[in-house]
Amino acid sequence: MTRPSPRIALYPGSFDPITRGHIKLISRALTIFDRIIIGIAINISKQPMFSFEERVAFIEDAFPDMPVEVTPLDGLLVHEAQRLHCNAILRGLRSGTDFDYEFRMTSMNSSLNQDIETVFLMSDPADTFISSSLIKEVARFQGDITPFVTPKVADALLHKFSESV
Ligand code: PNS
Repeated sequence: MTRPSPRIALYPGSFDPITRGHIKLISRALTIFDRIIIGIAINISKQPMFSFEERVAFIEDAFPDMPVEVTPLDGLLVHEAQRLHCNAILRGLRSGTDFDYEFRMTSMNSSLNQDIETVFLMSDPADTFISSSLIKEVARFQGDITPFVTPKVADALLHKFSESV
């Protein structure tokens, strides 16, 4: 009998930095997929606050002993998904605003490659307002970001903004 091939999802994003919202979504996705590959987009127009290496370290710290890998993504998502042997692209949805953007991106991706499905998980209702960019804004003005990120990320943000004062 042939064994079914493992279900692998590519979870792409900037992860600048990874948040509690991302972490919960990945944990839930691990009940559906055998393995998650977190793809950090390195060549998009956004200028990241944290280096690729820092973002990888935050992710590895959040997922000790889990079937989660991290890789740089450099190019079209559908090409990268194929290269990494992923059956699906995983994305989170927080709101209607996310939906509009995701709908257009998924439509473009499926017109480029119909064999790669995009799977969406709705974020936990308690996390719908959490985003990496808002967390950076709160940290910039010394607000408490500890409920939204891991202790390692909170320390790094604190350090980043105390450097720039
Ligand atoms: O964290 P983000 O900003 O939501 O991530 C966006 C990302 C990296 C998923 C998106 O910009 C992306 O896929 N970039 C790679 C280029 C691509 O394939 N775009 C989709 C075709 S429209």
